[in-house]
Amino acid sequence: MSNTFYVTTPIYYVNSNPHLGHLYTTIIADSVARFHRQRGKEVFFLTGTDEHGQNIERAAAERGLPVEEHVNRYVEAFQQAFAPYGFTNNHWVRTTHDYHKQAAQELWRRAVANGFIYKDKYEGWYCANCNQFYLESEVVIEAGKPPVCPTHDRPLDKLAEESYFFKLSAFQDKLLKLYEDNPNFIRPEARRNEVLSFVNGGLNDLSVSRTSVKWGIPVPDDPAHTMYVWFDALSNYITAIGFGNEQYGGEPHYQKFWPANLQLVGKDILRFHTVYWPAFLLAAGEPLPQTVFAHGMWLSGGRKMSKTLGNVIDLAVLRKHFTTDAVRYFCLREMSFGQDGDFTYEALVDRTNAELAKGLGNQCNRTLVMLQNYFGGQVPAAPLEADVEEELWIRAQAVRAIVTHAVGEFDLNFNSYYFSDAIEEVVNAVRTVDKFISDKEPWKLAKNPEQRNALALVLNTAIEAVRHFAVLLAPVLPNSSQAMWQQLGETGEVAAVNPATLAWGQAANKTLGEIAPIFPTLDKGKVMEEIKQEEAPIQPAAAAPAVVAEAAPAVEAPAPVAEPTYIGIDDFTKVELRVGQILTADPVPKADKLLRFTIDLGEAEPRQILAGIAQYYEYEKLIGRKVIVVANLAPRKLRGFESQGMILAASVGDEGKPVLAGFLEEVPNGAKLR
Ligand code: MSP
Repeated sequence: MSNTFYVTTPIYYVNSNPHLGHLYTTIIADSVARFHRQRGKEVFFLTGTDEHGQNIERAAAERGLPVEEHVNRYVEAFQQAFAPYGFTNNHWVRTTHDYHKQAAQELWRRAVANGFIYKDKYEGWYCANCNQFYLESEVVIEAGKPPVCPTHDRPLDKLAEESYFFKLSAFQDKLLKLYEDNPNFIRPEARRNEVLSFVNGGLNDLSVSRTSVKWGIPVPDDPAHTMYVWFDALSNYITAIGFGNEQYGGEPHYQKFWPANLQLVGKDILRFHTVYWPAFLLAAGEPLPQTVFAHGMWLSGGRKMSKTLGNVIDLAVLRKHFTTDAVRYFCLREMSFGQDGDFTYEALVDRTNAELAKGLGNQCNRTLVMLQNYFGGQVPAAPLEADVEEELWIRAQAVRAIVTHAVGEFDLNFNSYYFSDAIEEVVNAVRTVDKFISDKEPWKLAKNPEQRNALALVLNTAIEAVRHFAVLLAPVLPNSSQAMWQQLGETGEVAAVNPATLAWGQAANKTLGEIAPIFPTLDKGKVMEEIKQEEAPIQPAAAAPAVVAEAAPAVEAPAPVAEPTYIGIDDFTKVELRVGQILTADPVPKADKLLRFTIDLGEAEPRQILAGIAQYYEYEKLIGRKVIVVANLAPRKLRGFESQGMILAASVGDEGKPVLAGFLEEVPNGAKLR
């Protein structure tokens, strides 16, 4: 088994402030890095920032800043927000660094040399207002008429521009074989199936350069072209460890750590990492990562956190009320890794109080205080079997067995990225020890000199257990584990103690350090009240153009140009908007972006409506949801099904992710919007 471990996070866009979503991936990666270091591996942990592309150029222009200054400020914002968490990343990659640019160009060159990048014309339907090409599948095409821009409702122009193309179509079979031969390449399983069906549906070549974007890496030997931002961004995972450049150890360092053991991504960017990324690597003849793990999204108020929705969890508020360890613990424990989870401050307070303050913290503190009071701060060795009552002896052995068993279970689960289950092993063991202490009532034993051995066995067992817990949780709770470690009378770093070296009996005869509570209980009412005062209220979805986005374009999708086009109120009232409720939702065969709904608009019959949101919503979860429907749109056929209206959604971020519009209050089906 290799003794190195390479873990990466996505690199973060520098066009909005860091929020819990970004922090989350980094916390997971940091905990994994610490876990493997503690077990003796040489770990490389990479995170960083994605700094190129039209959106970033535009965000800088909107702020009136030179783009270099804009990106520097955001990089600093990310690094400052992350600093309190003590992340152990070995490097912070920035795509604007020279070594990265040089090495990304090298990757490109190799793909060219192997015949996988070619120059051609990019032909498509172009909207001058959006400054964007649309795919045929994204627009409504009526016979004999040019298609209309879904955002601006004006005819699109057929335009062609020169572009480099990546031969993605050549990789369909290789990718399918990769997924088949390596079931762990994409995790979790449900995500793997999604990607499989996408690739099975066929792959088109990908436009991988733009002439209209300047803020990016020039295409080698053709600087009028700028690399597609995902080619640039994805290559960071190898450029930052020495591929194609002499920085950071160059080729030997690259050989040592690549292929990565674990690439963590959010499920929203899974396709880039499991279709494009392996294809780019194969094209250049480079090995592929072992596992790409797609985690779920933190939702807030039932929706994915995003700047546009105004429902992001502010890291400053989080930092003010919770220790970094409590946040780390919550991130690994609360959300079943791979699935979505709703973030609430109430849940964070409850989890912290129940499992850290009242659970582990209380157990550690009361055991230490009793050792201080009854044994002068010197941990007694366990008495001999013959010196205590049989029942107590058996019970203590059972507790010991449960705690030592938890060590192996914790490792097995954590190693396979079942973080919450791993922690649960410890939580259950803490409960067992707690019950043992409560049942044996050492405070009563302490009053009877004849029970001195019994008292020693109870407290010795409890403190040996706490010692195990401190070592096991060190990757998750770096500060608190270290504090516990010192209170146990240990010197040195708990992070350096490999759990494989743990043995029962190591706590005995230690002189305790200074004792202090490690996880104070939070006053829920007070914390919640303070947060309410500080938090900006969650904004309803910002008004944004309606979309029926069927497919993300291959090239970066810029935000619509801000110039307003005015319409009169009469024009507006022509559009009939109504409240609808989703009754059924189904995927559309052979159209992996489309969902087919029946929607109750308060009419005699429900309507059938299709929407291109399958990649962003789990259809089963949409049943019952209230949406806004354009009720008087002329019916049209999509993939053989008639769509009798359109569902409104905001178009968010680079990829134009659809976010369904909805209501915070109860509204009857069919109610008209005006
Ligand atoms: N720059 C690209 C990634 C390029 S990697 C070669 C990008 N950046 S991002 O800043 O938009 O997002 C980075 C990561 O944060 C993604 O993995 C995304 O899933 C994650 N999160 C953003 N919001 C999130 C939540 N609400 N919850 C959990 N993670 C989320 O995409």
